[in-house]
Amino acid sequence: MATAQLNKSYFNDEAAKYDSKNEKGLQQLTQAIQARLDFIGADWVDDDEDDDAAGGDGRQLRLLDYACGTGMVSRALAPYTTQCVGIDISENMVATYNARAENQGLAKEDMFAVVGDIADPNDPEPTSLSSPELFNFDLAAVGGGFHHFENPKLTATRLVERLRPGGVLFIWDFLTHEPDNHQASHTVTHHGFSEAQVREMFESAGAGKNFALEDLGSGIIVGGHHHGGNSHSHGHHGEGTQPRKRQVFLARGEKL
Ligand SMILES: C[S@@+](CC[C@H](N)C(=O)[O-])C[C@H]1O[C@@H](n2cnc3c(N)ncnc32)[C@H](O)[C@@H]1O
Repeated sequence: MATAQLNKSYFNDEAAKYDSKNEKGLQQLTQAIQARLDFIGADWVDDDEDDDAAGGDGRQLRLLDYACGTGMVSRALAPYTTQCVGIDISENMVATYNARAENQGLAKEDMFAVVGDIADPNDPEPTSLSSPELFNFDLAAVGGGFHHFENPKLTATRLVERLRPGGVLFIWDFLTHEPDNHQASHTVTHHGFSEAQVREMFESAGAGKNFALEDLGSGIIVGGHHHGGNSHSHGHHGEGTQPRKRQVFLARGEKL
């Protein structure tokens, strides 16, 4: 089965437990992202003054959250943007993203996600992703997606096509690590990336201007147990992945 289909199927099964299972790491990443707004360097707005879906001074800042999952990156950046739009290959992840947005009392146009894959070799221009509201973003972000993509360079290029000129591409992912065996190993295409590989990816995608990468160190916790689950299932096939620490980076660059 193609990697994209393996991801779709795995994350469809994970969607309901993803947030509780990854609670600690998602918290750490949310804090790390919110502490680095200057590093990301988008033209942030103060969404508290939001009126008519624009910032206090009337500006808009539209975020595309690709491989959005349940929406951690969107929620971390929502206070500084005027609209968050998620895309994910897993329909259950998209449903969870949308349910969380709705539960927060947000209007659909402020935060919503749709199902899709912008780098499907069999469908290079998916009609489901052709609506104008899915283009001309100020910021495109990918949280923990690149190590799952069959073709990260092509995905970066397709993302940059959806940015306005001067828009920012921002990702978090893992620095190069030893291959390890865990529950989601079959969905992983890259054992992290080196700084040189990330820079090359941004440059070839057309978002290499003012490229910067920050290493967050090796303390981010990934994987782990489902807090609400049946503890007796830990250790059985497909369950019980031990939490492990990974070296995470944030990277950003601007579309030329
Ligand atoms: C580790 S999760 C990260 C979710 C979220 N961005 C976060 O930071 O918590 C990876 C996500 O990538 C999605 N994904 C994997 N391959 C994809 C593809 N080809 N296109 C779109 N989404 C994909 C999965 O469905 C999953 O939701």
